[in-house]
Amino acid sequence: MFYYKLLALLKLKNPQTLFWFYRKNCFKRSGITMKAIRVSKFGGPEVLQYEENVDVPKPKNTEVLVKVMAVGVNPVETFIRAGQYDTELPFTPGTDAAGIVENVGSSVKRFKKGDRVLTVRSRSGAYAEYTAVDEKFVCQLHERLSFDQGAAMGIPFYTAYKCLMFRADAKEGETVLIHGASGGVGTACIQIAKAHGMRVFGTAGSGAGLELVKKLGADAVFNHKEKGYTDKIMAATEGDGVDVIVEMMASTNLQKDLEMINYHGRIVNVGGKGQVKINPGLTLGKECIITGVAILSSSEADVMKMHNAMEDGMKEGWINPCVNKTFPLAKASQAHEEIAHNKGALGKIILRT
Ligand SMILES: NC(=O)c1ccc[n+]([C@@H]2O[C@H](COP(=O)([O-])OP(=O)(O)OC[C@H]3O[C@@H](n4cnc5c(N)ncnc54)[C@H](OP(=O)(O)O)[C@@H]3O)[C@@H](O)[C@H]2O)c1
Repeated sequence: MFYYKLLALLKLKNPQTLFWFYRKNCFKRSGITMKAIRVSKFGGPEVLQYEENVDVPKPKNTEVLVKVMAVGVNPVETFIRAGQYDTELPFTPGTDAAGIVENVGSSVKRFKKGDRVLTVRSRSGAYAEYTAVDEKFVCQLHERLSFDQGAAMGIPFYTAYKCLMFRADAKEGETVLIHGASGGVGTACIQIAKAHGMRVFGTAGSGAGLELVKKLGADAVFNHKEKGYTDKIMAATEGDGVDVIVEMMASTNLQKDLEMINYHGRIVNVGGKGQVKINPGLTLGKECIITGVAILSSSEADVMKMHNAMEDGMKEGWINPCVNKTFPLAKASQAHEEIAHNKGALGKIILRT
């Protein structure tokens, strides 16, 4: 049986399929059941089915089994649910959980039963009462933070850190524009940039979003729905432009970013996959860089550096994830509706088990 699956696997073109194949086929049965969200067909939020008799995954040698208390909901999970990624059915969605270690595999070194942890990936899926995660994707959760806050960290804080520190190589004293600062990644970016001595400009599209961005420490805030807001950003830099832009909606904003970026500036595309017309000539005189980030393709060494930075941030007090709304796990479909019809982001949406 395995041989035939392997043969089928070798014909697969997209490496992401490999990940989903691994996730589905390595799911070992333990005999104990749990409540979890299962997706058996692609579609709208209604395909997120709450099931009560799902097998609890058994951790492999290098894995930690986490009793999940809270789960972070990310926009990418709505795209996966809709079938926009090459994903094996059925599956349990989610990567970002916070909870307590229930059990560890025989070669796990960094964690023990009872540890408070957060996860940044999951083999078996995070929208569940238990999740099995390789220990390299697990980080200690400081007692200062709640489980809801821990669940808000995975993809958003690691993406924000990778953007600013690795992709943009942002430095103390530089001006960083967080273009879309009110959501999960944006609110994380503000906290990381401020902690590293950067001057932070943040945008939001609602009054409450602007207030939140200001409260988190942004030096100046701008409404990305207001006509002429980019002129105000340029005026705030006395015409120089900003050194770094973290862009949540590149498919709308990339040309504006090229106009606002300073000489030798760096624009990091986090979100926005559609097409956009730009004037590439603007990169010449400014010698600026346009790059992208993909958190799920981070190297093991980078993930470990990010764990260390996150543990420092939690301990030193500069990481304070913003939780906007919580839903029970059974209402995961409502959480996905909320993301799709959001009238103005205010941090994270969390599921509680
Ligand atoms: N590349 C990666 O590895 C990676 C990792 C994580 C996330 N992402 C992507 O990054 C994006 C943000 O993720 P998230 O978790 O922060 O989502 P989120 O919590 O839903 O927040 C979305 C953000 O985008 C802002 N936005 C909406 N329209 C905008 C515009 N025209 N210009 C600038 N900003 C605008 C929103 O502001 P208002 O609501 O206030 O208008 C909000 O701040 C999503 O597209 C997500 O899929 C990519």
